[in-house]
Formats: sequence, C-alpha cells, structure tokens
Amino acid sequence: MSTKPSSLRLGVNVDHVATIRNARGGAHPDPARAAIVAAEAGADGITLHVREDRRHVREEDLARLAKAVALPINLEMACAPEMLDLALAAAPHACCLVPERRDERTTEGGLDAARQHNLIAPYVRRLRDAGIRVSLFIDPDRDQVAAAAGLGAPVVELHVGAYCDAIASGHGAEAERHLSALRRAAEEGDRLGIEVHAGHGITFESVGPIAAIPQLRELNIGHFLIGEAIFSGLAAAVREMRHRMDAARADPT
Ligand code: PXP
Repeated sequence: MSTKPSSLRLGVNVDHVATIRNARGGAHPDPARAAIVAAEAGADGITLHVREDRRHVREEDLARLAKAVALPINLEMACAPEMLDLALAAAPHACCLVPERRDERTTEGGLDAARQHNLIAPYVRRLRDAGIRVSLFIDPDRDQVAAAAGLGAPVVELHVGAYCDAIASGHGAEAERHLSALRRAAEEGDRLGIEVHAGHGITFESVGPIAAIPQLRELNIGHFLIGEAIFSGLAAAVREMRHRMDAARADPT
C-alpha cells in the first residue's frame, strides 16, 4: 500500500476533527478536509470510528471521506448489526472491530477475542466475505493474539494505551513491562502469520519504541495529532510523526 521506504504505515484517525465540529454543529472543521491534509503530509491511510452514539464522525463523513482521498479507509466499528450494515454498504478497505461502551470516553481496552468468540466470529466472516480486511483491536497478550488467529482475523491491532499512559506519567519500569508485552504479542502475531498493527494514545514521546518493534506494519494515531494540530498545524504534526516513525525504524536501538 505504501510506496515509502519504511514498511510501517501511518493511519491518521480524524475522529476528533468531527468532535470539534460537533461542539457547535455545522460543517467546520471538516474531517474530510483534514484527511486531505493528512494524505498530503504523508499518511498512508485514514481511520475513523463511527460510534453507536455518533459522538464524532457519522456515516455521511465516511462517504465524503472516501470520495475526498485516494488512501485506504479503515473503519473502526463495534460488533453490532447496525455497524455491519454500514460497513458492508460503505465497503471500506479495512474494518477494525473494537469493543464499545456508551459511557466510555474512548476505547478503553481491547476485545476479549477468546471469551467473545461467538459474538465476533460472524462479523469477521461477513466482512471477510465482502473482501474487507478485518482486524481485531486486542490487548497486547499472546493468548488474545492466538484467539484472533482462531477467529480467522488476518490482522490484529494491539492496544498500546497502557504503554503510552505509563510513558506520559513518567513510570519507566511500568512502561518497560508494557513494551515487553507488546513485543511478545507482535512476535506471536508474526509467528501465526497475522499482520500486526498498534494504536491508541500514541504521542511524539511514545512513538519511537513502538515503531521500532519490527513486526508492526501500521500505527493508527488520532487524538494527539489533532491536538498537536492546534499548535503546529495538522500537516506539520503528521510529518513530524512520520519522521519519528521512520527514524525509529531506521535505527531501532
Ligand atoms: N486504534 C483504535 C482501534 C482506536 O479505537 C483508536 C481510538 O479511536 C485509535 C487507534 C486512535 O487512538 P488515539 O486517538 O488515542 O490516537
């Protein structure tokens, strides 16, 4: 998909452009315009999460975005019949199945791929049958990776929120433990022939050690980039993230 020398793709999540828009209603700022800027600045894909409560992007954003940029679209979605219908109608390049609770501020943990096998399996099957690349958003745990493989998911996205939180709060030893778990989960995915992605909470500070994990093929990053755009502009924020990913990849020490 990417023509860049780095084999690590950057998916830019534009949900929070819509969060700002929705604070006032109307059309500004437009997530589709943000997607165009992100594409020009080096994003390899655009990610968005249509939530049950439509708190940020909505289905019409998905349709406009898909027209506005030539990049692959990755739709994050809950295992819910309404979302399956939406995904099958929109036919994005990829869907990432995520857990969703109305009262959570953001996606707080990964899917329990082992215990929720019967819930998740039909969604993986229906999306795969429609030619959509399916990933499961899971905690960085080898058993979860194995369960995702058992579900026939070709891709997993590892939830790196705990690692990023530990970095942000200066808890170095805890961060190292989370990083080791991430490395083990990425190795397990690779061993099982699954493509491994990572996302949630990634910042300029935390991206390097994550990007240096050689099995990772894609990072999905949203909130920090949109926040940083207030200070430096979205294009500059995306370029800087891209630069840090490539630098970590070139020199993983
Ligand atoms: N990946 C998944 C599966 C997510 O649910 C989210 C949050 O919507 C992200 C990545 C992006 O996280 P953040 O906005 O914290 O960068």
